Amino acid sequence: MKPIFIVANFKSNKTKNEAREWLNKLLENKLKLQNLGNKKIIICPPFTLLDFFKTILESGGLSVELGAQDISRFPSGQYTGEVNGEQVKEFVNYVLIGHSERRKSFSEDERIIEEKIKMAKDYNLTPILCVQNSNNKIYSGVSIVAYEPQFAIGTGNADDPKNAEKIALKIKEKGNVKVLYGGSVTPENIKSFTQMSNIDGVLIGNAALTAEEFLKLIENA
Ligand code: PGA
Repeated sequence: MKPIFIVANFKSNKTKNEAREWLNKLLENKLKLQNLGNKKIIICPPFTLLDFFKTILESGGLSVELGAQDISRFPSGQYTGEVNGEQVKEFVNYVLIGHSERRKSFSEDERIIEEKIKMAKDYNLTPILCVQNSNNKIYSGVSIVAYEPQFAIGTGNADDPKNAEKIALKIKEKGNVKVLYGGSVTPENIKSFTQMSNIDGVLIGNAALTAEEFLKLIENA
């Protein structure tokens, strides 16, 4: 059975108290998270909550991994406001790179994305490269790609799973990568994506913010 990645991207959401409530609901449902079989859960909280998530997940014995939503393209040093690969590596094994919101609102172009991929590799982080279509460049050494069409992100208008499957196949023709689908994934439509033979999982924004919905997503995947 192929592994199914279920990646939650919290974006710029949740205070510590809100995160505590979310995590408590997960802990209350610990049993559901113990026999996950081929499902691999990765949560990407904001930087401010990485330490908190790591502590609670470890003490609660939950087999859930962590990812960062971004990293600096620079190493440690005089880069005010940046969080670098060495710093996030203390908490996570994965990092999202090139999310369309970074490309759009923070003017990240291919040059910056390539530098960030390099940083991720330098610090032994597994980059999850987000692309909007099958024309985007897939950098060497990238093993996980998330296909996230712009029209589907945060709109409630998910892509047609058959189209996502076609794009996933095209991306796989470019390199030996796993391909996730992202954009308005819900507990109702998740299976229609994960059952596709070339789709190896999902990247979820909005629906993962509610613990109950997140548990349903995991159950239905
Ligand atoms: P969404 O976000 O599930 O809210 O559409 C997905 C994403 O941007 O990763």
